[in-house]
Amino acid sequence: MGHITLARWADWIVIAPASADSIARLVQGRTDDLLAALCLASESPLAVVPAMNNKMWSNQATQDNINILQSRNIHIIGPASGIQACGELGEGRLVETEDIVTELVCLMVPTKLQGKRVLITAGPTYEPIDPVRFIGNRSSGKMGFAVAKAALEAGAEVSLISGPVHLSTPSGVNRVNVETAQQMYDAVMEDIEQFDIFIACAAIADYKPEQVKNNKIKKTQHSDLKLNLLPTKDIVSTVAQQKIKPFIVGFAAETENVTDYAKQKLQDKKLDMIAANRVGEKIGFAVDDNSLHVFWPSGSQVLPLAPKTQLARDLMTLIIERYDAKDSTKNS
Ligand code: C5P
Repeated sequence: MGHITLARWADWIVIAPASADSIARLVQGRTDDLLAALCLASESPLAVVPAMNNKMWSNQATQDNINILQSRNIHIIGPASGIQACGELGEGRLVETEDIVTELVCLMVPTKLQGKRVLITAGPTYEPIDPVRFIGNRSSGKMGFAVAKAALEAGAEVSLISGPVHLSTPSGVNRVNVETAQQMYDAVMEDIEQFDIFIACAAIADYKPEQVKNNKIKKTQHSDLKLNLLPTKDIVSTVAQQKIKPFIVGFAAETENVTDYAKQKLQDKKLDMIAANRVGEKIGFAVDDNSLHVFWPSGSQVLPLAPKTQLARDLMTLIIERYDAKDSTKNS
């Protein structure tokens, strides 16, 4: 029987979009169409993503139906609010696909970081030269934002300190925007002792102009322009020197000798883990796929080329493994 086969086959059932009618039919336990019949026949978890006109959503009948579904442990995702297909404004919009996936992953993946606080830095920093110019780099922030999402999916409370990027904040992440390396340093150090894990994805400028001119520097035809640069503070190393410190993960973006430089950085910066990748033309920065070679004091693992969202999940699995291993040696 088709509906029974499907009901047994599915690990999860997600109804997206779920109309007011589909929701009412689930409540009644109807079997006169395939969807209602297989939901009734399945023991798998069910998620419902409502999408309907805002008046239909706020109608007591629909609200009562939603309460009944929730009391049966059916997961309700959304709805979002905004402009609707009918032209009205209000609650009832289908949640964005990416946010549906995030919520589903949160529901499906064992939440190993429940109750843990994770701090992530992402993106580039801009070091001003004058009011219109700055020294920056090609970091897009994509990896850091993907890592923030993966930490959220693992159940953590996530704070993200981001340099200037064109990315939207994953819903549920607490984001602080900064521009310079000093601002990123101040934001990280403000309450670093509150965090269990610190993941430094940001491509922070290593140098900043000694002087920031108050007015735009004018072009002179016949003389060179020299900028004197001063080193910025190394944030991840400073965190590693704290008495009470989180589990620390650094990144190493290199154009050559990736493995050697990464291992050296792991040691020099006193990190618990470092994720190394090769950067250059069309690899590493501002692209959607990446691969990582991850090192920790007693081992290493290659995470093969994958979209950054998947790579971030694989990295998070590794971080959780090493974090748990360190925690158990600390407690034994
Ligand atoms: O030394 P390098 O900049 O290559 O090290 C990269 C790692 O150090 C990254 O994790 C980066 O976020 C971190 N870093 C930092 N503060 C700086 C420079 C780099 O935390 N000023």
